[in-house]
Amino acid sequence: MIIPQNITKILLFILIITLIPLVGCKQEKAKEVVKDELVYPQNKKLISDKAMVVSAHPLASKVGMDILKKGGNAVDAAIAVQMALGVTYPVAGNIGGGGFMVIRMNDGTVDALDYREKAPLAAHRDMYLDTLGNVIPRLSLDGHLAVGVPGTIDGMAKAFDKYSQLKNWKTLIKPSWDLAKDGILLTEREANGLNRTKDRFEEFNTSRPVFVKENGEWTKGEKLVQSDLARTYELIHDKGRAGFYEGEVADELVAEMKAGGGIITHEDLAQYEAQWRNPIVSKYKNYEIISMAPPSSGGIALTQMLGMVEEYPLKDWGFHSPQTIHVMAEAERRAYADRAKHLGDPDFYDVPVKELMDKDYLKERMSNFNPNAASPSDVIQAGVFLKESDQTTHFSIIDAEGNAVSVTTTLNTGYGSKVVVSGAGFFLNNEMDDLSAKVGVPNVFGLIGEEANAIQPGKRMLSSMTPTIATKDGKLNMVIGTPGGSTIITSVFQVFLNVSEFGMGMSEAVNAPRFHHQWLPDQIFTEKDAFTQETVSALEKLGHKVGVRGSGKIGRFEGILVLPDGKLEGGADIRGDDSASGY
Ligand code: DON
Repeated sequence: MIIPQNITKILLFILIITLIPLVGCKQEKAKEVVKDELVYPQNKKLISDKAMVVSAHPLASKVGMDILKKGGNAVDAAIAVQMALGVTYPVAGNIGGGGFMVIRMNDGTVDALDYREKAPLAAHRDMYLDTLGNVIPRLSLDGHLAVGVPGTIDGMAKAFDKYSQLKNWKTLIKPSWDLAKDGILLTEREANGLNRTKDRFEEFNTSRPVFVKENGEWTKGEKLVQSDLARTYELIHDKGRAGFYEGEVADELVAEMKAGGGIITHEDLAQYEAQWRNPIVSKYKNYEIISMAPPSSGGIALTQMLGMVEEYPLKDWGFHSPQTIHVMAEAERRAYADRAKHLGDPDFYDVPVKELMDKDYLKERMSNFNPNAASPSDVIQAGVFLKESDQTTHFSIIDAEGNAVSVTTTLNTGYGSKVVVSGAGFFLNNEMDDLSAKVGVPNVFGLIGEEANAIQPGKRMLSSMTPTIATKDGKLNMVIGTPGGSTIITSVFQVFLNVSEFGMGMSEAVNAPRFHHQWLPDQIFTEKDAFTQETVSALEKLGHKVGVRGSGKIGRFEGILVLPDGKLEGGADIRGDDSASGY
């Protein structure tokens, strides 16, 4: 076809005009890609043949995977990951906090390690009250008085002694020591977190911690070298438990307490012992659930909630249908009412474990469930028995032999008490807030408590952390858990049901929107846009109050699912920098 010259020119002109914005657009997109580029690549959904580690930080997952490849078992990898998170994930990973480890070995043996912090020996019931008996705001949350005696290092030492296959402590600690010494690159989230908390770091520390930049703000990709922490890791590497609870680090911790008005002494540190506990084991249909025992409320409350919904046709009702949400929220309400009354440290309080999980009791508990109306929380009180009695982190591991470990560990809220031990370079927890400062006065998660969780010297504070392992037809099936304060138990409840009832894979189950009811306040909290407007209206019609929870997000879940062909599916939460590593 012959086109007259002037028409060719016109067409060329039109083409250029059309292309200019496209070229501009392309440049914009390229920039966006650079902006979104991750400091460390994150695997959100990963399928592997034999072994998997899912944690809150890509480097920590890699450290765990390297240990598995060297012939370590899942417990060896868990110790290495806990130590690595203490360097790479200062907001919650820790050596100055505590946690729980649930274990299932491939021969079916189950175990649970409680390395929860303890109230210092000088703690007393009214330590957070003013002279009028009112709770002094934030005293149990910020600064030196908020700190519980750390349990992490004794926990790792005990896990190592009982289960290590590598039998080489130093190999487990060295990679993290190197990370502290050589530095890590800050992800955007971490840089923002440190910048956001800078004022409080300055307010509550007796010297400037490495986490406060001397000039200006942290930026994504910047290197954080933690020299003091590296020396602490060196001492732990060389001396094990004694490197932390005795000698230089202990002296520095006690000196830090004295300088800032805290109460932890050398005696507190010397006396600290992690405890082996019998895990809570229960049944849901053809699954067996292995979860954490008191002083966590997680295993019991999860068992209660699953027991209460078991006979309802959730699968037929469908994921997030108003009926499903309604019955789950009603089960949650009832379990949390029991939690407030009956749960606490079993070394101090006689927790009615069997009674709370009894199938008849749970049936009885749901006898006033009304499918057509919410039960107001002032009507639902804790059960009565004759015998009275912002940041955390989770990681899940399965090794090539099929041993499984589920760990949730914490400083309590983000960066704990904000206090860094001068010279030793690690954050101390603010776990004292998980004890009940006063009957009926909610803690930072809105949870209330009574006698069972009142402050006593040497007592462990009640927790919601729910590291969980599930078997199906007798075979390992899921390793799951999450942070999220009071929402931990309901998140584990939901992800388990997402897989077992709603047929999701692990990644889909982890990333599906979540909701939460904790009895008081009497409300269903949701993630942003979790429910359609139609669903919200249906729930409101039933009498539920529905609202979006603070940040609009609930938890940062890490799960592994054993697929029918024996492969593993790792699901790392899209809500954070979480990442899976496998082989
Ligand atoms: O043990 C507990 O239940 C709390 N200290 C957990 C804190 C937590 O999950 C904060 N994270 N978002």
